[in-house]
Amino acid sequence: MRHFVIVGILVLVTAVLTYVGLDVAGVATQMNPIEASAQSIPIDWLWNWEIMAICFLFALIIVPMAYSMLVFRRKQGDTTDAEHIEGNTTLEITWTVIPLFAVLALAYMGAYSLGETRRIDPNAMIIKVKGQQFVWTFEYPDTGIISTELHLPVDQQVLLKMESADVIHSFWVPEFRVKQDVVPGRVTEYRITPILVGSYKVRCAELCGASHAYMESPVIVDTRADYNSWIAEQVAIVAASQTPEGLGKLLTVKNGCIGCHSVDGTKMTGPTWFGLFGTKVDLADGSTVTADDAYVTESILDPKAKLVTGFAPVMPPFKLTDIEIANIIAYLKTLK
Ligand code: CUA
Repeated sequence: MRHFVIVGILVLVTAVLTYVGLDVAGVATQMNPIEASAQSIPIDWLWNWEIMAICFLFALIIVPMAYSMLVFRRKQGDTTDAEHIEGNTTLEITWTVIPLFAVLALAYMGAYSLGETRRIDPNAMIIKVKGQQFVWTFEYPDTGIISTELHLPVDQQVLLKMESADVIHSFWVPEFRVKQDVVPGRVTEYRITPILVGSYKVRCAELCGASHAYMESPVIVDTRADYNSWIAEQVAIVAASQTPEGLGKLLTVKNGCIGCHSVDGTKMTGPTWFGLFGTKVDLADGSTVTADDAYVTESILDPKAKLVTGFAPVMPPFKLTDIEIANIIAYLKTLK
C-alpha cells in the first residue's frame, strides 16, 4: 500500500510538472497563434484538455516503470524467480472501465467542440472564394466586388463558399484555427466569426504546384465602419474603371493572373507585365518574338505555344472573349 501511495503522489507531481514544462516551452498554449475567431476558443479549449490528458498518461506510464526499476531491483546474489501471478479480475475490470469513461468523456468533448465550431448564425454574410494556382480571389455580396484581399467585419459570422479553378487548395488562417479544403467541382463551406480586429493571412495548406508556398493573401478584420468604407472605396474604384484599361485590370484580378504576373517588375512565377508590351521577348527555343496583340492573345488562349525562356510551362489556358482580351491588352499597354 505504501508503494501505491508514493507512486500515486509521484504520478500527480510528474503530470503537473510535465504540463508546466510544456507550457513554459510554449507547447501547451502559447505555441498557438492569437485567437482571432469565435471558433478558435472551443478548439483551443479542447487542445488544452488533450495536452493535460497526455501529461497525465505520460506520468502514469513513466513513473511506475521508473519506480519499479529502482525500488524492486534484484538484490545482489538473489537468484530466485519473481512471484507468479495468475490474473486479477478486479484489476482487469478497473483498467477496462476507467479508460472506457475516459474515451467517452473525450468523445463528448470533441463533439461539443465541433458543434461550437460549426454553430450556424442565420444572418451570416456570404462571400465567394476562388482558389486557383496560385492566388485567392474574393467576391463580396450585393456589390459584386472582386478583390484579392479578404476584408471581414468584426463580430459578424461569414460563410465562405469556396471553389477551385484547378487543383485542390486548402484555405487556412492560423489565427482562425479552422481549415478547409477547396476542391475542384464542388463548393466547400467555411464558417467563421472574427472577434479581433487585425491583419492576418490566408495560406494555402495543400501542396498545389510550383508556387504553392506563395499562395497567400491578406485577411483584414475591420471594425464595421472601416469595412463599410472599404466596400464603398471598392465600389468607387469599379465605377471609375469602366474604361478598356480599367476593365482589363479588373479582369486580371478576377482571373487570378496577378497571382503569377507582377505589374511592377517583381519576379514571380510568370514573366512580369511591367514594360512588356512592344518589347522583344526571348523564347525558350532560342528565338525572339515581339510582345504585340497577336502574341499576348496567343499567350492567354494557348500559353504553351510560345514559352518565355526561364519560366516553367505552368500557366493554364484562359478562355476569354475577344473583347476581354482587348481590354487586358489595353491595360498591359499602361504598364510602363
Ligand atoms: Cu494552393 Cu497550395
